[in-house]
Amino acid sequence: MEIRKAVLPVAGLGTRFLPATKAQPKEMLPVVDKPLVQYAVEELSSSGISMAIFVTGRGKDAIEDHFDSSPELEQMLKGHGKEQLLDQVRSVSSLVQMTYVRQKRPLGLGHAILVARELVGPEPFAVVLSDDVIDAPVPCVRQMMDVFERYGRSVVAIQQVSRSAVSSYGIIKAEPVPDHNLSGRLYRITDMVEKPDPRRAPSNLAIIGRYILTPAVFGELVSTPRGAGGEIQLTDALRRLLMKEPIYAYLFEGKRYDAGDKLGFLQATVEIALKRPDLGAAFRKYLKGLKM
Ligand code: G1P
Repeated sequence: MEIRKAVLPVAGLGTRFLPATKAQPKEMLPVVDKPLVQYAVEELSSSGISMAIFVTGRGKDAIEDHFDSSPELEQMLKGHGKEQLLDQVRSVSSLVQMTYVRQKRPLGLGHAILVARELVGPEPFAVVLSDDVIDAPVPCVRQMMDVFERYGRSVVAIQQVSRSAVSSYGIIKAEPVPDHNLSGRLYRITDMVEKPDPRRAPSNLAIIGRYILTPAVFGELVSTPRGAGGEIQLTDALRRLLMKEPIYAYLFEGKRYDAGDKLGFLQATVEIALKRPDLGAAFRKYLKGLKM
């Protein structure tokens, strides 16, 4: 079945970025000149996904406004002959079709996905966490859709992390799947645990914020009890789903930045700016001139 829809949970409070996120959503923090959430939506659009379902909450209206058309601004840019900016502003509102649903209580990622159940319906779908910005030759979601097309089962994106970092992630236990077309990147999950103690983690393969899920996950989420941090965890629901159907893990190609973290956000900013044709050369020169 084709993947047409993606769920973007954006209701989180963004406490790691206070005070910047006191009065604006963390998803609107800009990396160079685009908000984090726009990187996520552009990845969806270039992967061939046609609908983004945002799971939002209080204080997140700026996200909806960002992807809406903006007649006054467009009129002004037109009047001033700023055609290039006008095109950029217009294209933001036509990337994909958008719908919004509210998560009324902060009960975790699993709960946020469950809130989107009616809008997703009985079809496989993607989940994108906009904190994870991924720079890749082929968009990460597209890579995962290709795996889904071959295997027809849920796929989670993974990367290796240091042992000491495992307690920040969902960690999988898995066996490699020999598939020449995927050059050693595919695993079949045998177990998974959310934010384990490093001494008890089953591996250092961490789940990154990109998933392709079969709708069967909703049936598990309904009865998944609160887990790590007192929240309903997607990892726990997937662990239950594992008893009923296989789930794959895919070591994606590309570089991921944890832009929900201050250091990761700075790394994303520097590296993405260096790659920008309009800024890269001047920024490189500036960095080289710094006394460090
Ligand atoms: C969430 C998931 C976790 C995953 C991580 C990836 O955690 O619960 O399994 O490894 O995203 O970024 P969070 O970062 O929201 O605590």
